[in-house]
Amino acid sequence: MQSGQQSSHRVVAIDGPAASGKSSVTRELARRLGFAYLNSGAIYRAITWHILQKGIDVGESDRVAHAVESAQITCCLRDNELCIFIDNVDPGDYLRDDRVNESVSRVSSIPRVREIVVEKMREHAQGRDLVIEGRDIGSVVFPDTAYKFYVDASPEVRLRRRAAQGQRDEITMRDHADSSRPVSPLVVAKDACIIDTSHLTIEQVVNEIIGRLEQNGLLPSAA
Ligand code: CDP
Repeated sequence: MQSGQQSSHRVVAIDGPAASGKSSVTRELARRLGFAYLNSGAIYRAITWHILQKGIDVGESDRVAHAVESAQITCCLRDNELCIFIDNVDPGDYLRDDRVNESVSRVSSIPRVREIVVEKMREHAQGRDLVIEGRDIGSVVFPDTAYKFYVDASPEVRLRRRAAQGQRDEITMRDHADSSRPVSPLVVAKDACIIDTSHLTIEQVVNEIIGRLEQNGLLPSAA
């Protein structure tokens, strides 16, 4: 498949910084649309967990890239949600561990790792309608989709949300690393619709997105 090319299936891209509400919004949107849900961050997290399990220093880009090339990465759907297996192990319970939070931006900045993950995502998207969340979905992974959203919230709100999840997660540092890396940085795709979720509930954000999708022709208008 060519870069970003899609067949008859539809892809809704939801990008944004850490703790902006992407996951809750994307999951609920997928449920309401009856589309599959794909969290690209979970793939980068699973790979990071695998690298740490192997005792590889995440600063050694070539070793990391080689280990990812050698790993068997399988994506499948369970109840319309993505499950990731690496060498037949499901690291699902460990994706939000502190050590994964600390290292994931480093691992995901390695160009070869990104190439492998992007290919997996495009393979997974083949033939199914999908809502997919990440950092570069509208800009790099599916640049041709007409349905792009950038979900944001103020830094204070995002810090509060992550703290309320009980996680130790340096989101400010991660955002800086994700936005300043040379390869596929977090950016607002030029044709994305920006939604500030600081003062909105998940339902309000999803309703807003569905309204836009109706205007864009993805859904029949409710009117
Ligand atoms: O849940 P949260 O928004 O905090 O993060 P995530 O979506 O689970 O993504 C974890 C990390 O994976 C990000 O901080 C990025 O470093 C990386 N990532 C990426 O580089 N590209 C993506 N499309 C998705 C995630």
